[in-house]
Amino acid sequence: MKKCVFSGIRATGRLHLGNYLGAVKGFLEIQEKGDYEMVYCVVDVHSITTPYKPDELKKNKREIIIDYLAAGLDPKKSILIYQSDIPEHMELAFYFSTVETIARMMHLPTYKEKVKQYPQSNTMALLNYPILMAADILIYKAGLVPVGIDQEPHLEVAREIARKMNQTYGTDFPEPVRFATKGEYIPSLTGEGKMSKTVVNSFINLTDSLEEIRKKIRSVPTATAAGGEMSPGLKTLFTFAQLFIPSEVEGFKKSYEGRTLQFVTLKDRIAEAIYADLKPFQERRVKIAADQKYVDEVIKDGAARARKIARETVREVKEKMGLS
Ligand code: TRP
Repeated sequence: MKKCVFSGIRATGRLHLGNYLGAVKGFLEIQEKGDYEMVYCVVDVHSITTPYKPDELKKNKREIIIDYLAAGLDPKKSILIYQSDIPEHMELAFYFSTVETIARMMHLPTYKEKVKQYPQSNTMALLNYPILMAADILIYKAGLVPVGIDQEPHLEVAREIARKMNQTYGTDFPEPVRFATKGEYIPSLTGEGKMSKTVVNSFINLTDSLEEIRKKIRSVPTATAAGGEMSPGLKTLFTFAQLFIPSEVEGFKKSYEGRTLQFVTLKDRIAEAIYADLKPFQERRVKIAADQKYVDEVIKDGAARARKIARETVREVKEKMGLS
């Protein structure tokens, strides 16, 4: 059997340029090589562990599937699913919860942050979040998980659960590790940190129009620091220039050094180039979004293929745990 990569994405809004260049392009490369079985899962059940709006969730989770398809993920080569379509994830999470302690879950930094953010919603579901995540990954016996460093504590929990299950019940779960896809680091438009869905004014949506992109790029702060040092915002602009207009970087650098560079000229040129890069994606997206039947079919087919694997893992676990 091929090695499995499991990717989970929360259904909070759409993909942005940082996801696209940082992760999805890496996925496409893996897809081309064909060395791995890839499962892309919109983790809608994780989305309900903090306050949310049902109608927004319903809309957002479909948008992510459409974004993935428009970006080039091929549903024939990969499995695209909604977590809630595979009830075995939740079943396995319950079995896993028998080998994990409450104290351990309460000490996770991610849990503490969420409780601080939503003190009224300190629920069992939130406490169980990492256990469900372990089940997402281990149900496919995936050894590789492309996620950010912030998810390392959760992966540590998944490894712990795999070990305990294997020791106690003789299962053969792998200990999953974080996996960096070959992607670019995309800085935030604020000039600080990286582009992120949860930081306002930091990102460009994949569906932004030329006007929207221009407005956002123009708002990157470019006030020059004393002594001719490039400000963080200006460095960000040059990072974008390197990514989108590499052949023009030299010229812009020269005029910067010669103090003749008009920032707005550089900004508008970058905005134009980003838009040109996104246009084919946007055109594909419009077509895919209009074909409801196709999108439904992808989701149905993904669920059927995933369930086959998931059922088998759960069957094995139930047997080894003495439940069947
Ligand atoms: N916790 C992950 C995040 O916040 C989302 C997620 C849920 C996930 N299940 C997963 C990621 C399984 C990778 C594998 O981004």
